[in-house]
Amino acid sequence: MKLLLATRNRNKVIEMQQALEGTGWQVVMLSDVKGAPEVKEDGATFEENALKKARSAAQVSGLWTLAEDSGLEIDALGGEPGVRSARYAGEGVTDGERIRKVLGQLVSVRDEQRTARFRCVMCVIDPAGGERCFEGRCEGRIAHNAGGSSGFGYDPVFIPEGHEKTFAELGFAVKGKISHRARALQQVIDYLGKVQGLRPADPGIT
Ligand code: IMP
Repeated sequence: MKLLLATRNRNKVIEMQQALEGTGWQVVMLSDVKGAPEVKEDGATFEENALKKARSAAQVSGLWTLAEDSGLEIDALGGEPGVRSARYAGEGVTDGERIRKVLGQLVSVRDEQRTARFRCVMCVIDPAGGERCFEGRCEGRIAHNAGGSSGFGYDPVFIPEGHEKTFAELGFAVKGKISHRARALQQVIDYLGKVQGLRPADPGIT
């Protein structure tokens, strides 16, 4: 069965594709779907944005479709940047500029108050229009300085719980097991596995 990954973020595609290998699902990219519109991520929650992306891609493709929305919540900033993680320092700025803004706002914040978490909500839409959403979280804290070159986004300043290095220093071998995206995707894979198992007995599922 085919599964459309409804994201244009190359880094997310790489992380998701690796985890889906060997599941029996044939991954289809959004770039392979003609007429897939750009989606404005203006929802108030990760789930709203993930559903919006999934619905629009499912509508034009008619395929099983998976979309996600994710971001970083920093407790000392009242949960910011949250759903605005990608646009935190304005439109069209680099990851480095977003990181500088975050670190600048936390200059006088002590270690124990630098708690944060990555959240990821993934929504799956089936060809009949059924919707299921799953959430993965990864708790941690914000480093005092950026470190490491692996990954993307806020990875150079996020230290996951139980570690002393940032995601960008730990690399994909660790991030791929404990990240918010990995945790959401594991639930999606379990769900899709059940769908595959159901298939012979359920002609309604294509
Ligand atoms: P969106 O889901 O495309 O709106 O983007 C979410 C934004 O959150 C990304 O552009 C990153 O800035 C940040 N983000 C989400 N997941 C990660 C991650 O795994 N590592 C680092 N930053 C992330």
